[in-house]
Formats: sequence, structure tokens, C-alpha cells
Amino acid sequence: KKVIFSGMQPTGVITIGNYFGALKNWVKLHNEYNCLFCVVDMHSITTRQDPVKLRKSARELLALYIAAGLDPDENLIYYQSHVPEHAELSWILSCFTYMGELNRMTQFKEKSQKSELNLNAGLYTYPILMAADILLFKTDLVPVGNDQKQHLELARDIASRFNGIYGDTFTVPEPYIAKMGARIASLQEPTKKMSKSDENPNAYISLLDEPSVIRKKIKKAVTDSDALIAYTEEKAGIRNLIDIYCLSKDITTDEALEHFQGKGYGELKEQVADALIAELEPIQKRFKEILSDKAYLDGIILKNAESASRLAERVLRKVKKKVGYPQ
Ligand code: TYM
Repeated sequence: KKVIFSGMQPTGVITIGNYFGALKNWVKLHNEYNCLFCVVDMHSITTRQDPVKLRKSARELLALYIAAGLDPDENLIYYQSHVPEHAELSWILSCFTYMGELNRMTQFKEKSQKSELNLNAGLYTYPILMAADILLFKTDLVPVGNDQKQHLELARDIASRFNGIYGDTFTVPEPYIAKMGARIASLQEPTKKMSKSDENPNAYISLLDEPSVIRKKIKKAVTDSDALIAYTEEKAGIRNLIDIYCLSKDITTDEALEHFQGKGYGELKEQVADALIAELEPIQKRFKEILSDKAYLDGIILKNAESASRLAERVLRKVKKKVGYPQ
């Protein structure tokens, strides 16, 4: 079987952007691959975190992976910080990554504008750690949203460069970016992507928002001044709502457009909310059950970290030998 690796940061809430752009695709693909789904807590500390909150968010994200449908017996679900090989490989790869490449990362450029007070080196080398995550496990496929595409290209470049110098070592990973859902837009500024760090909570929907909150946020979603339901570039708000509808119902855009023909924005919003609530309610229910079973979660955490570590060690040993670390 081929290998899938992907991860999410346990920072703040998980949005329906994270869900439709990544998590839901993981659930769709997981049967056909050997999968590792990581809670990337080491990435999270590139911005200042409250330690109590970070620990809680990490555990909740792990529970959410399972609640969304990833069986922890079939998939390696674990915390990045529990597998020190990530950090070890990251250092080696940083010696094969050029500053010019990191300077070109658009996410770094955006973040560095926002975080003047804590412009740390981790924020800068973050894409190298992400490359290490992926390359540690001979990953073939990385299912992510559109905003991670550039990071993935860097991981491919680093892998190819290393292979070019030392001979075949890393598998060069392919991105998996679905056509629909790869960029769920902000509900308030639909030309921007939905982001959990948005100051306005009406701009995003958390996977754990109560149905009444979901309904309220969809109702407030920015649309446009004519009243025609169409799927065009200019109608970013409507297009985003149709995407959310299609993704919740697993139908195509054409099917949705036919369904909404002749209907108004009020009705569209009503039905988008219904569909999204129907999709998220079972996940929310399972999430609560899983989180309350402490022994179950603790067992998974320990067992999976050990398994991931054992797998990572195989690749890392080869890499260390190639670069000339003493044996
Ligand atoms: P993160 O935690 O920001 O986001 C997790 C996943 O959600 C996707 N995503 C979106 N998809 C569609 N629409 C949106 N509005 C939206 N917002 C976020 C992201 O593309 C991502 O797939 N660096 C990564 C985490 C990471 C990783 C990895 C991913 C670390 N190591 C190795 C894959 C492989 C990140 O910060 O994602």
C-alpha cells in the first residue's frame, strides 16, 4: 500500500475549512493507503501559546480526527512532539534548504507582517519541519488544502536535492488537493480564505460550533446585491456557500445549481445551514464520547507514538549514515 501523511496544528479552533480542505479527504482516502495523521504541536509553538490551552487543544484535535471517522487502529494518529525523529530530520534537512527558498514562502511573508513582536526563527524554518514530517515516512501522497501547496513543493525540492547528492533516499511526495473545498472562503470577506485566526468569529465556522451558532453565522454570511444564485468568480460569497452545501451533501456543483434554480438567497442560506449541521452533528456527538474516555485516548497516544517512531527510525538511520554521522 502507498503511504499518506498529513497533519493539522492544534492551535485554537478547527474550522470547516480545515475539515473540507483536509480532514474529510483523509477519511475518504484512508482505506486505500497506509496513513499517518499527525497533530503537529511542534509547529504550533512558532506562535506564543498558553501551555495549558495547547495541551488541551492537542488532545481535542486527536479526538476530532477519530470522531471524523479515522480509526486509530487502522491509521497512525499521534502527536508530533512524541516522535523526536521529526526534530532530528528537520535539522538535517535545514542544511539542505536555501534561505532564498524560505524567503519565497508566501505564508512566512504574510505571517511575518502580522507578528512583528515574535518574528522567531521557528516561523522561518517551519516549512523545513513540515518537509521532515512528510519525508520521514516515505510518504507518497499528502492531502492538504490549497494554502499548503507551496510548502509541499519545497518538500519535494528538498527530497530531490538530497537524492541527487546521496542517491535514492527519500520518496518524493505528491500533493493531493481536491478540486472542491481546497479553499473554503471567509464568510465575511469571501475573497479571502477562511482562517481560524480571523479576529471576527463570524468569518469562520468551527467544527464544534453549536447548530444555532452555525445557523447564525451562515445567515450573516456576506453575499452580493443581486439575487441570482450562480457559480461565478464575481459571486465569491454565493460560490462559497454552494461549495459548503455540495461538500456537506457529497453532490456536484451542477446538482446543487439545479436544486437551487429559481430560489432566493434566504432559502439558500437556510439549506446550507441544514446540510452543514447534518454533516457536523454526528462528529460533534462522537467527539464528546471519545474525549470523555480518558483511558481509550491515552492508550492510542502511547501505542501510536511508538509505532510512528519505529517507522521513522528506519528512514532516519539511512539519512544519518549518508550524511556521515559517526556510527
Ligand atoms: P493548518 O493546521 O493551518 O491547516 C490544516 C489543513 O487545513 C487546510 N486548510 C484549508 N483548506 C481549505 N480551506 C481553508 N480555508 C483552509 N484552511 C486550512 C490546510 O491546507 C491544511 O491541509 N503546515 C500545516 C500543517 C502541517 C502539515 C505537515 C500538513 C505540518 N506538517 C505535513 C501536511 C503534511 C498547517 O499549518 O496546516
